[in-house]
Amino acid sequence: MKQVSINDLKSGMVLAKDVIADGQLIISKGVVLSEASIDKLKKYVILRVAVEEEMSQAFTSSVEKDLSYSERVKNSPEFKKFKENFDDAVDALETSMNDVVEKNKPLDVDDMLSPVLETMESLESRIEVFAMMQNMRDYDDATYVHCLNVALICNIFSRWLDFSNEETRIATACGLLHDIGKIVIEKDIIQKPEKLSVNEYEMIKKHTIKGYDLLRDYHIDIHIKNAALLHHERCDGSGYPYGLKGDLIDPYAKIVAIADVYDAMTATRVYRDAMCPFTVISEFEGEGLQKYDPRFLLTFLKNIENTFLQNRVRLSNGKEGEIVFINKEHLDKPTIRCGMDFIDLSIQKDVHIEAII
Ligand SMILES: [Fe+2]
Ligand SMILES: [Fe+2]
Repeated sequence: MKQVSINDLKSGMVLAKDVIADGQLIISKGVVLSEASIDKLKKYVILRVAVEEEMSQAFTSSVEKDLSYSERVKNSPEFKKFKENFDDAVDALETSMNDVVEKNKPLDVDDMLSPVLETMESLESRIEVFAMMQNMRDYDDATYVHCLNVALICNIFSRWLDFSNEETRIATACGLLHDIGKIVIEKDIIQKPEKLSVNEYEMIKKHTIKGYDLLRDYHIDIHIKNAALLHHERCDGSGYPYGLKGDLIDPYAKIVAIADVYDAMTATRVYRDAMCPFTVISEFEGEGLQKYDPRFLLTFLKNIENTFLQNRVRLSNGKEGEIVFINKEHLDKPTIRCGMDFIDLSIQKDVHIEAII
């Protein structure tokens, strides 16, 4: 750590101590300084600040990579293995769900879970599943793919919540089977590209009750049945099918709700393009705390943000850069390194992340 005069500060230096003026936190320790944050310090007439001896690593590795992060992920042998396992898991899920729905075959949760867990195990780091899934987005949006995605998200989410192995297994199964009721709803409505009529929307909403009915008589964990029934309930009572509030909603259904919405919004749908994860995070940060259990939502957002560190993004001002710092106060506004400059989106409020590239 060293003390540096404000006039000698450079983009890429890392603050070693919180900067406080008049009892107010101006910039936190750990922030990578940008032109904008240096200007901010000047406005507060700060004379000297403590910075780390080393510049930000992202700054020093100034050699621009030829490939985008997304291209590097897609070219990696790990992605190819993941995609293979993912495809197999989707096929297995389609077969076993249809066996249950159409042929009344016994439902063996362990059997259904094993391809999902194999897909997870094919990854060196569990966090990579988000990068992998992000790159599968042009895949398609069939119910089975969505269910598998939600199961994978629930699996990692459970670990972030420090769940036991058994709880993690249940949460993963909840994600896998949450939309099983959609299989008995007319495909034309599920895949309709135009806006749904009121009646059609009411039909779709029934997938919750239909899913519960399909699972009701099986000897499986009660949370799996509840998650199928209650994953569209919201803590403020604005959900369906019953408009339940807070504590009346099964905690596993609350976990599935967050994973479900995250996957649905970041996936390409027949009626709209995929939303950028940062737009989704920003929406969750907005009205999310009323609708979703804050215990679960805050853990989800904090961890999911970290999975995007070092991803390349395109900003609304046309510039491209790499995420180098996550701002804990504003999870949707990280610091981006663009060439030799750093843009702190929590300070430069007129700029936002448009897409991960
Ligand atoms: Fe659903
Ligand atoms: Fe869903």
